[in-house]
Amino acid sequence: ASNVQANSKLMGFNAVPVSTDDTVVVPDGYNAKVLIRWGDGLFPTAPQFDPTGNAPSSHQEVQFGDNTDGMTFFPLSDDHGVFAVNNEYCNNEYLFSHQGNKMTADDVKKSQAAHGISIFEVKRTDDNNWELVIDSKYNRRITANTEMEITGLVAGHPDVKTAADKAGKKALGTFGNCANGFTPWGTYLTCEENFNGYFGSKNAVKVNKEQKRYGVNEEDSGYHWFQHDDRFDIAKNPNEANRHGWVVEIDPMDPTSTPMKRTAMGRFKHENVAIVINKDGHIVAYMGDDERGEHLYRFVSKNKYIEGNDTENRQLLEEGTIYVAKFSTEDGKIGGTGQWIALTHGKNGLTKENGFPNQEYIHLYTRLAATQVGATTMDRPEWIAVHPNQEYVFCTLTNNKNRGVKEGQPVGGPNPRAANNYGQILRWRQVNDDHAHPTFAWDLYVIAGNPEVHKGTLYAGSKNINNENMFNSPDGLGFDAAGRLWIQTDGKYSNKGDYAGMGNNSMFCGDPKTGEIRRFMTGPIACEVTGLTFSPDYKTMFIGIQHPGEELEPSHWPDGGNSTPRSSIVMITKKDGSVIGS
Ligand code: FEO
Ligand code: CA
Ligand code: CA
Ligand code: CA
Repeated sequence: ASNVQANSKLMGFNAVPVSTDDTVVVPDGYNAKVLIRWGDGLFPTAPQFDPTGNAPSSHQEVQFGDNTDGMTFFPLSDDHGVFAVNNEYCNNEYLFSHQGNKMTADDVKKSQAAHGISIFEVKRTDDNNWELVIDSKYNRRITANTEMEITGLVAGHPDVKTAADKAGKKALGTFGNCANGFTPWGTYLTCEENFNGYFGSKNAVKVNKEQKRYGVNEEDSGYHWFQHDDRFDIAKNPNEANRHGWVVEIDPMDPTSTPMKRTAMGRFKHENVAIVINKDGHIVAYMGDDERGEHLYRFVSKNKYIEGNDTENRQLLEEGTIYVAKFSTEDGKIGGTGQWIALTHGKNGLTKENGFPNQEYIHLYTRLAATQVGATTMDRPEWIAVHPNQEYVFCTLTNNKNRGVKEGQPVGGPNPRAANNYGQILRWRQVNDDHAHPTFAWDLYVIAGNPEVHKGTLYAGSKNINNENMFNSPDGLGFDAAGRLWIQTDGKYSNKGDYAGMGNNSMFCGDPKTGEIRRFMTGPIACEVTGLTFSPDYKTMFIGIQHPGEELEPSHWPDGGNSTPRSSIVMITKKDGSVIGS
């Protein structure tokens, strides 16, 4: 019993308490079961998972990748479907017996194979659970070495040409695939986020202003690919990094299809894509750039969606206009209006004189254009989700230790706290509910915080946060068909100090109108909860448990005992077979 269990008609479950246990906890009347784990075979001949960390790359190439993240269930029928799932990055501490400290050429290949996308068929079993169809024709691994096409106006640009691809039109692979999106024409969108961390060099490199803004330099994030693969050595292949940082469109139903890098949607550290068919027929894609002080974007397609003509619709992400958000607030208020500013060459100061030679440059170096037009620097935009009735749009702003500390990141507007360690969720509504309109009104749906530790300040959180439902660093976000808002966290799990009472990372359910928020699920030790999709009848919810036991924290989830912790997809069902959350 608690004051959290208020009266939202949307939520028919009792909140679960905070947890520090090494398990997945769901409400009374629910079950949770693992669908697939890192290292599970996706083909009949795939070898079994080897927990020693000594397996060769050839194993990982035919197994489910590491660090499950954004995902979409594409239905084939009532009891069959195809999953497309991001494998964002790898946990060197478990992938290698040497924990990544003595990389061989094959270790680099194995790491590259642990990244990318896993596509596989599932079929319904009993109790609304599902299982892998191991001999399905749909099963596919896309890795950091899969051939892809660079499409749109940046294709063939001098800055994406390399020695191996003189035309600048064929990139190899995708990595840092964080969250996702899906289109009304049945394709999967995977977002290239922390791509810069895969590039490095044995030699000191003098970086240009474009590389600097994207964090590309001689120091990688510990993957060490450049040690054995020259493609990732920026001294040898300075343009290779420009071929990453895009949204990639994939046809999950054609395992021979070539993934398409959609340069029309701009280049930054893409978190996810939330697609709307606007009432005027244009496709609108909302997108966040997850880095401290970066921006919130929108893409509006040039052409319109044509119901039933998916051959034409598949071209819609090829051409359009990118916009970036600029927020206005009266001093001291939380809420106000905002503008979408077009990143169109020749407008809004995006001129030759200001260093923007053409439209292609703006798509390649979108962050520089956003700064030029005076876009608002945000507290790390993560996922964006649009309510099913297309009124309100929500975006998690996960945290930002630089707010109010670094130049250009003043406190105010949608980013109201200095050294923001808890995060907030932004909500806005377009004028006339027109997603192509230049103006919107915004407020904050929730300000995360700790009302026990911080009393009477903004760090206590907004009114809808209390000692039963407090959390930090909202990240994954999505709606179900009934309009329940699902919120996943990627926060500090120490359960101490500022984070006391928050426990392990969790998933919450929010009523988007009343603001009520209830804890629905808690994850195992040192995990992040990220990735969300449903069966078409909404009776199975699929969520991702990423990096349980990261940095050798004591997790043995999901298999228990002394087992190696493994990132996995979990199915949540209701014992009475009804809709999740109801
Ligand atoms: Fe991969 Fe911004 O989370
Ligand atoms: Ca994320
Ligand atoms: Ca995050
Ligand atoms: Ca993550």
